[in-house]
Amino acid sequence: MATVDTDFNYETIKIEREEGGITWLILNRPDKRNAMSPQLHADCDDALYRLATDAKTRVLILTGAGDAYCAGQDLRLFFRGTDNAPRQRFEAAQNSHSWRWSRLSKFPKTTIAMVNGFCFGGAFTHLIGCDLAIAADEAVFGLSEVNWGIIPGGVVSWNVTQVMNQRDAMYYSMTGDPFDGKVAAKIGLVNSSVPKSELREETLKLARKMAEKNTATVRFTKEGIRMVRDMTEAQAADYLAAKSDALRFHDTEGGREVAMRQFLDEKVFRPGLGNYIREDSAGQKSAAKG
Ligand code: COA
Repeated sequence: MATVDTDFNYETIKIEREEGGITWLILNRPDKRNAMSPQLHADCDDALYRLATDAKTRVLILTGAGDAYCAGQDLRLFFRGTDNAPRQRFEAAQNSHSWRWSRLSKFPKTTIAMVNGFCFGGAFTHLIGCDLAIAADEAVFGLSEVNWGIIPGGVVSWNVTQVMNQRDAMYYSMTGDPFDGKVAAKIGLVNSSVPKSELREETLKLARKMAEKNTATVRFTKEGIRMVRDMTEAQAADYLAAKSDALRFHDTEGGREVAMRQFLDEKVFRPGLGNYIREDSAGQKSAAKG
């Protein structure tokens, strides 16, 4: 059962806590289908900055209140509202890019997008900014920009080419055709889709699995996967060697040694089949408690 965290008090988003180190960031403008206003950008930017070092967060789930995940940029407040206000436009655009891509794609813990309904245009950036994504079969996705005379800007076009193949990226951005969660899973835009009635529990199941893992290892793994895309093989080999060494410095749990002992000496777990049993500094075994 999630509880609202009143230390994180925002106008357009809610922060809720679940047992085991799971934090919900909920876009909370359901009447406007969680369209992204300048205020929502400012709220998300601040919340992600704070949550990055929040000791209670091992996994972050991003979703929307009500029936929508996020209907993209708010056409009234983000576009029309700042057309003649260059300072406000600049600030909104900065915050928009900062939280949806810079902060989210570099967030130091696991991030999961739970796509519960409409997901349009600019929402693709924070969808793809999350490491993992699960959608409701019934969710409706769309690169709808072409329908109203703009291109998938910000960095949406760049985002979609990272996860979609060229034909799908061309088709959905040129036609603006909507598609459902099952198609989103088939084309690799999300990891999986499930009936909406099962979405929350399936997402929590994944979140709990990730919360049990060593957070330093998860962080270095996701950084590695994102970074090596744009490297040559030689650069990647050198970067990953340095990253592996750095992990041994950053991993205060000493996961590598604990896991080897549990597998090779104590024979209490199989690395191929699941995570090692995390221990506290006194060597006591513990499930992840957040
Ligand atoms: N910007 C501003 N307002 C939006 C919005 C957006 N992107 N998406 C929805 N809203 C507002 C509507 O204006 C309406 O406000 P109102 O009640 O004050 O009139 C309210 O949210 C509900 O929208 P409505 O269209 O009546 O709901 P619906 O459930 O029938 O349809 C959508 C939902 C998402 C399909 C439809 O609102 C839509 O197409 N939105 C735009 C999506 C889009 O192309 N986004 C890309 C922007 S980059």
